[in-house]
Amino acid sequence: MTAELNRKVVLAKRPDGVPDESCFRVEDEELAPLENGQVRIDVSHLSIDAFIRTTFEEVAYHGGAAVSATIVALGVGRVRESRSDQFNPGDAVMAPFGAQTIATLPDVMLQPIDEKRAPMTASLGVLGMTTGLTAYFGIREVGRVQPGETVVVSAAAGAVGCLAGQIAKIDGAARVIGIAGGAEKCAYLTKELGFDAAIDYKGEDVDKRLRELAPEGIDVYFDNVGGPMLDVVLDQIREQARVVICGAISQYHGDMSKGVRGPNLYLRLAERHARMEGFAVTHFGAQFEEAEAQLVEWLGADSLKLPEQIENGIENFGATLQMLFEGGNTGKLLLAV
Ligand SMILES: NC(=O)c1ccc[n+]([C@@H]2O[C@H](COP(=O)([O-])OP(=O)(O)OC[C@H]3O[C@@H](n4cnc5c(N)ncnc54)[C@H](OP(=O)(O)O)[C@@H]3O)[C@@H](O)[C@H]2O)c1
Repeated sequence: MTAELNRKVVLAKRPDGVPDESCFRVEDEELAPLENGQVRIDVSHLSIDAFIRTTFEEVAYHGGAAVSATIVALGVGRVRESRSDQFNPGDAVMAPFGAQTIATLPDVMLQPIDEKRAPMTASLGVLGMTTGLTAYFGIREVGRVQPGETVVVSAAAGAVGCLAGQIAKIDGAARVIGIAGGAEKCAYLTKELGFDAAIDYKGEDVDKRLRELAPEGIDVYFDNVGGPMLDVVLDQIREQARVVICGAISQYHGDMSKGVRGPNLYLRLAERHARMEGFAVTHFGAQFEEAEAQLVEWLGADSLKLPEQIENGIENFGATLQMLFEGGNTGKLLLAV
C-alpha cells in the first residue's frame, strides 16, 4: 500500500508583474510522524485572498515568501490525527494552513470552529478575519458611517465589498453605491444585496455616474482598489468625509515596497477637512470576539448575505488566485482542496 501524501503548491519563482503558471509548482510529500503537541488536518477549503499575491515579493507587509516555500493561505479543515489534548479527530478548525491538502501544525496555531453557529466555510467568509471582520472594522471603526450618509464601496461585488456595503446599510447609510466590473455584478448588488445603486466601471463613466447618483458628494469611501479610481472619488468627497483605505488591489502586481500609484488629488482632503485612514484588520484583534458575535447575529437574522464561489483542486491554486485580479469572482472566493 502506498503512503498517503500531502500535495502542496510552492512559489516556483517570483513573478514579474502578473503571476503566470510558471510561478507555481505542485509537489507531493510524505507525511512525517506527528510530534507531541502537533495536529494533522485534512484541509477542506482555502480562502483565496488578495494579500497572498503581495507575499510573492521579497519584501512584503505580510512577509515575503521564500522561493520553493509553500504559499500562505488561511483555511478550514478537519482534524485527522492529534497529539494534542486540545483537539480530537473530527474537530473542525481554522488556521493559516498554507496551500496544501494535509497540514501539520502545532495546536497553538489552530482555532476551533463552532459548527453550530454557521457552516465551516463561514469562518473564512462572513465570520472570517480577511472578509467579515475586515468589512466590519472598516465600516464601523475607520469609516464610522453615520445614519443618512452616502457611502461608496469599490470592488463592491467581491468578498469584503459585498459585506462592507451591507454593514453600511445596517448602520443607517441613506445611500450605498457599489463600483464593480460588469452589469451582472452590478445587478447582483442592487437586486440581491440591497445596494441602492451600482456603477459598472468597465462599461460606464464612474466620474459622471457618481455625480448623478451622489450630487451632494460622498461621505465615506470604502476603498479596496486604489489607483486612478481613488482620485475619481476623492474629487467628489464632501466636507468631513472619511476615505477608508482597506486595500488597493489594482496595485498589487509589483514591488510595493518601492511604491504604488498614489492619489494625485489628496489635497481634496485638506480642502474639505476630510480624513483618509488605512487599517489592517489585525489592528483590531482585541475586538474580534465582540465583532464576531455581531456578525453571527446578523447572519442568523439574514441581515447579511455573502455568496461563496468555490473552485476545485489544489492544482488550480494559482489560477484561482488569478481570478481575484481579473474579476472572476462574485462574493467570497474559496478553493475546495
Ligand atoms: N485591510 C485589511 O486588513 C484587509 C483584509 C482583507 C482584505 N483586504 C483588501 O480588501 C480588498 C478586497 O479583497 P477580497 O479578498 O474581498 O477580494 P475580492 O473583492 O473578493 O476580489 C477582488 C475584486 O477586486 C476587483 N478588482 C481586481 N483588480 C481590479 C482592478 N485593477 N481595478 C478594479 N477592481 C479590481 C475584482 O472585481 P471587479 O470585477 O469588480 O473588477 C475582484 O473580484 C483587497 O484590496 C484586499 O487587499 C484588506
